[in-house]
Amino acid sequence: MPSELPASALYSHPSLGRLWKKTHLAHSPFLHRKAVRQLYQKPAATIRQHLSPSYSLVALGCADGIKESLLLQKLPPPTLLLALDTNLSLARRAARRLHAHHKIPRKVDLTSTFTFLNPRLKNKNHQSLQTLPRLITLFGVLPNLNPLPLLRRLAQQMHPRDLLLFSVNLAPGNSSFAGARKVLPQYDNSTTRRWLEAAVKRYRPKLPPGTLEFGIHPDPNQNSLARIEARWICQKSTRIVFASRRPTASQVNSWIRATRLRTTARFCEPFGEEGLWLVSY
Ligand SMILES: C[S@@+](CC[C@H](N)C(=O)[O-])C[C@H]1O[C@@H](n2cnc3c(N)ncnc32)[C@H](O)[C@@H]1O
Repeated sequence: MPSELPASALYSHPSLGRLWKKTHLAHSPFLHRKAVRQLYQKPAATIRQHLSPSYSLVALGCADGIKESLLLQKLPPPTLLLALDTNLSLARRAARRLHAHHKIPRKVDLTSTFTFLNPRLKNKNHQSLQTLPRLITLFGVLPNLNPLPLLRRLAQQMHPRDLLLFSVNLAPGNSSFAGARKVLPQYDNSTTRRWLEAAVKRYRPKLPPGTLEFGIHPDPNQNSLARIEARWICQKSTRIVFASRRPTASQVNSWIRATRLRTTARFCEPFGEEGLWLVSY
């Protein structure tokens, strides 16, 4: 199994954040299909039923916060916003975009310990905010990071009044591999190549000269789960630069069962390529 670059290496520099955004603008179904954008407003009614009107929004891997902003159009503004991403300039853009009474943008690593879920607020007047129920969002992140360990760590940090809303890029249909083949052109294209090749160039220790190849491979932790991968093929070695998992809805349900969280509601766009799960403690 070739070794893998950390997902954060694709976003770690402001210029890579901009190239990701270009890729997103060119190929993301979120921007090209209204039904996918509408998906991000659908959970609001259910969230309002389960969440106190005074809450904090913890936006994990939020980039510039565009998906969270759609959701917030249908929710009361959070008392506290934590905009958390490995790319601080993106997290700051999210904090500017989203309405909240108090805002904290932070650089975090979702693969390390989760201390950022409970930030220490220095201002004494703000300390009561630490006990607010939380709406945690995790949009567009699970495809790139190992989903089960991440969901498990989140589940361990959640309290009874918290809600977690996460998105999954689904494999349309009943087969993870056949579904992944259908959506491969969303990844194997010149804009995505430019972004990934820029990340390869910036990566340290330097990678030898090579070429980028896209393909579909089984996830090393779950053989029945397809991953769209971009691999950097060199004469003597191969590195995985990018991996996007494409589970079926039933595979996502099995991850949730493994974390012992409960599904409150589930939403899917009409093509079956993107879904949102609202889960609670
Ligand atoms: C595919 S983008 C999705 C962005 C946005 N939430 C959306 O759905 O449009 C993945 C986001 O996760 C962030 N990210 C990747 N690895 C991360 C890590 N280890 N810790 C924190 N954020 C990370 C990236 O900077 C990027 O903003």
